[in-house]
Amino acid sequence: MKPVNVGICGLGTVGRGTYQVLTRNAKEIARRAGREIRISHIGMRKPNLEFDFTGVEINTDIFAIAKDPKVDIVVELIGGCETAFDLVMVAIEHGKHVVTANKALIAEHGNEIFEAAQKKGVMVEFEAAVAGGIPIIKAIREGLTANRIDWLAGIINGTGNFILSEMRDKGRSFIDVLAEAQEKGYAEADPTFDVEGIDAAHKLTILASIAFGIPLQFDKVYTEGISHISAQDVTFAEELGYRIKHLGIARRTKAGVELRVHPALIPESRLLANVNGVMNAVMVHGDAIGPTLYYGSGAGAEPTASAVVADIVDLVRTLTIDPDHRVPHLAFQPNCLSDMPILSMDEVNTSYYLRLEVLDQPGVMANIARILSELDISMEAILQKEPQVKGSEVAIILLTRQVQENQMNKAIAAIEALDSTLGEVVRIRVESLEG
Ligand code: HSE
Repeated sequence: MKPVNVGICGLGTVGRGTYQVLTRNAKEIARRAGREIRISHIGMRKPNLEFDFTGVEINTDIFAIAKDPKVDIVVELIGGCETAFDLVMVAIEHGKHVVTANKALIAEHGNEIFEAAQKKGVMVEFEAAVAGGIPIIKAIREGLTANRIDWLAGIINGTGNFILSEMRDKGRSFIDVLAEAQEKGYAEADPTFDVEGIDAAHKLTILASIAFGIPLQFDKVYTEGISHISAQDVTFAEELGYRIKHLGIARRTKAGVELRVHPALIPESRLLANVNGVMNAVMVHGDAIGPTLYYGSGAGAEPTASAVVADIVDLVRTLTIDPDHRVPHLAFQPNCLSDMPILSMDEVNTSYYLRLEVLDQPGVMANIARILSELDISMEAILQKEPQVKGSEVAIILLTRQVQENQMNKAIAAIEALDSTLGEVVRIRVESLEG
């Protein structure tokens, strides 16, 4: 059979990783795909002297690659949303199958892209967009296809997990670890995407869609990052038997779907609490299988390339299949997506860790307990730290039972309004993640 020609657009971290894996494992991959996969074209802005590109057409115009009749599969690895969107749409228009690692593109424009691809009878694959090398899209879309998915929760930003792990284990500063994550090629071009939770929100949008059969709705994800997590909270959480992790959570409830990304305390005995460094892990709960866990490298050149190349091989196999009988982009048939409502964060039920600085004087704890009791909020644990100077200020840590976020917001506002409360209450959600 004639080789399949692949055009790689973008030779950054993931592009270089893809080039390396595809060339190094070419024979093994061809044995699996049943055909030789040839990198026929590479689109890049600046010349790259790292590799020997003999036999590859190099072009600074990526759109020329998307239109070239010799190219069978276009691999979009330029990142960002604007040019990447145009490139993917041009490739589709020219009848090319597409592989992308671009979570922002899929989360924000996927509905439009898949519609165009569907009309044209081509596929757009995006395994590398979520959790780096972990085949989580394939697992949910195909492996768990018999299940009604109840919820999923995961550590889906490698940079954020690397920062939290290094802060906890080595007491390193946030800024210092972030610089190392950038150096290692884990972080996004704009690292605020990692630390403010946007990258995780993109990934959660995609996971929720394929888990529940709903359209991609990035704008409805509640998004909070890790930039406000202090070393103090990491230590207090440990004293209470928890670890702080940044989680993406999607849960089906009777009222609608929870879509939320935020730091959370997890009991230290849970597997997810022990996922460290750049590793990602996603728990998926299906009605038939119960809890399942997927673990692996969440970022980096070759782990991400592993997913890109797997998508290329899938497409090579797809080339001969009738377009109406392919695995649907969002796991469910396009005309069978549901319009389940997405809940606002106020409607979500969860438990809380609260840390507050208060004056060290009688009656303070009683007032806080009264506020919580009036709002029907039960306490799970209380920790009061020794004041540094007797009679000055003191830190109080509270763990609550489950309550609606709306009630918790009222409680926090009332506690902050007390004369004895100094500054803002720190709130981190607590997730028990029981199977
Ligand atoms: N910046 C991302 C992360 C890269 O750290 O997880 C992988 O998507």
